[in-house]
Amino acid sequence: MEVRPNSTASVVLPRQSFGVSSFYIYGTTLFIIIATISWIWFNGTSNTKEPPQISPKVPFIGHLLGIIQHQAEYFLQLRTRQSWPIFTLKIFGSRIYVITSPELVQAVFRNSKSLSFEPIAFKGSQRILQMGKEEIEKLGASPDFKHADYMDKINKGMHASLQPGAPLFEMNSRALNRFAVFLNEIDTTEKQINLYTWVRDHFTLASADAMYGEENPIAEDLSLIDSLHYSRGLVKNASGLIQARYRDITASGCTADNIADWEIAIVMATTMNSVNGAFWMLCHVFSDPQLVSDLREEIEKITTRRTQDGTEKVCFDVSQLQKSCPLLTSAWQETLRAEDVVVSQRVVVEDTMLNDTYFLKKNSMVQIPSRIMHESSDIWGADSHIFNARRFLKPNVDSMSREQRKLQKQGFVPFGGGSVLCPGRHFATTETLGIAATILLGYELRMADGSGALKVPKGKKQEMGVAVKIPQNGLDVLIQRKKEFEGVKWTYDVGGEVKESDMVF
Ligand code: HEM
Ligand SMILES: *[C@@H]1O[C@H](CO)[C@@H](O)[C@H](O)[C@H]1NC(C)=O
Ligand SMILES: *[C@@H]1O[C@H](CO)[C@@H](O)[C@H](O)[C@H]1NC(C)=O
Repeated sequence: MEVRPNSTASVVLPRQSFGVSSFYIYGTTLFIIIATISWIWFNGTSNTKEPPQISPKVPFIGHLLGIIQHQAEYFLQLRTRQSWPIFTLKIFGSRIYVITSPELVQAVFRNSKSLSFEPIAFKGSQRILQMGKEEIEKLGASPDFKHADYMDKINKGMHASLQPGAPLFEMNSRALNRFAVFLNEIDTTEKQINLYTWVRDHFTLASADAMYGEENPIAEDLSLIDSLHYSRGLVKNASGLIQARYRDITASGCTADNIADWEIAIVMATTMNSVNGAFWMLCHVFSDPQLVSDLREEIEKITTRRTQDGTEKVCFDVSQLQKSCPLLTSAWQETLRAEDVVVSQRVVVEDTMLNDTYFLKKNSMVQIPSRIMHESSDIWGADSHIFNARRFLKPNVDSMSREQRKLQKQGFVPFGGGSVLCPGRHFATTETLGIAATILLGYELRMADGSGALKVPKGKKQEMGVAVKIPQNGLDVLIQRKKEFEGVKWTYDVGGEVKESDMVF
């Protein structure tokens, strides 16, 4: 395949790129503005049941300027001015409804027909990537973008292949075994790394390997991502996820080039948020020495140590990461509560009464800034601004009132919800827990400046389209293998059967 230096012009974006990796492919702010303006026309007069309005400081365009300047953080600033469960922002005559109540968020997720994600994905693909009418038709989209049979099918295939079970754990084990190659290189001599770039580079390679199999062009050369080419037959050795996508995509009549382009988006979707998540998880746990030692005790129980072919190996049972490591799992949930800042978006495709209470007008936009809920002291209590790795442990959850538990359950949405619930949540969770478990068990981490336990860095200003915060600085740390694991190789087993109910997300 010819290598085109600027292939994005013909990229056919899968819809997940808008929630997950859009910022990587183009300027997200621009997208939001275009989407906002193009989807919400001058909408006529107000209905008395519409959510209360917040007036902008500058008439007409104040909210637009606010979003441009402060991005997703603008919603948090507005939140401090009142405590309504939902409010309306008008830009000229058009409307954005911002939702802050857990109950209403779930009502939006349930209402996926009239509060739809499809239009954002399709209109965005078409406009920004200059997709022609023909390509849109291939995708099976109806002219008003309300339906997209083909997209639905691809998504169903993906969702199925990412459900908890052997194919998923197989993919996870593959990725973890690949990641372990990098960990095996670190011995008992202290080594300085930039924790963020180290996690990012190795995580990306490991994930690409897990998805595409060993003959993986990304592994050969990241800049040759364009050479992803199904017709070479790579798909035969790829994971269930990629095979399902290949089957559904070719059935639509798209070419190998279309598919190759498409894959760029899926690799980014798979890695960007997971990489950030794994980074924050490591920062948070290694900032607390007591937590590190409690976690080590828990993790030891799911490992076996034996000598095989003259090499000493420690093997992790991947299926037990959530089932048998409640503290590790709780720390991951808390990491997402603290660092996942997704703003889920929907378009009102028909007039809708939300929760039988609020009137939402057709062609308006709904924005759900998860961070407002994830930081709320009404939902999480007085310590909502503190990282508490034990927050999600069963005894702590059980000790709350029924109402409080319900609020937390409804208001914790790191992976979105409804028809756009992230299908990669199990993969990302197992991957992160596996990496964290290995580093916790086998290594010591400390600040490179000699100041001891890790200091959790600040996040960058939150752009729209980024689900998990990006750190301001990458964090220079010293990593060193513990003496008791000198020369040991890390390996991962798919393990036993796991039920959906064993998974926390
Ligand atoms: C910590 C890691 C991850 C986070 C926090 C995350 C977050 C999200 C969120 C919030 C959404 C929904 C957006 C919305 O409601 O508008 C989403 C959708 C999606 N994610 Fe993830 N994600 C992660 C990892 C992954 C991985 C590893 C994969 C692939 C293996 C993946 C594939 C997708 C896809 C395909 C969608 C779109 C679903 C659909 O359109 O039905 N994600 N993700
Ligand atoms: C698939 O894997 C098998 C066994 O590892 C190998 O012999 C074969 O060449 C691979 N095929 C492709 C297309 O990668
Ligand atoms: C949603 O509806 C229920 C039942 O009518 C009502 O009690 C509740 O206050 C509504 N929630 C919001 C946030 O308006």
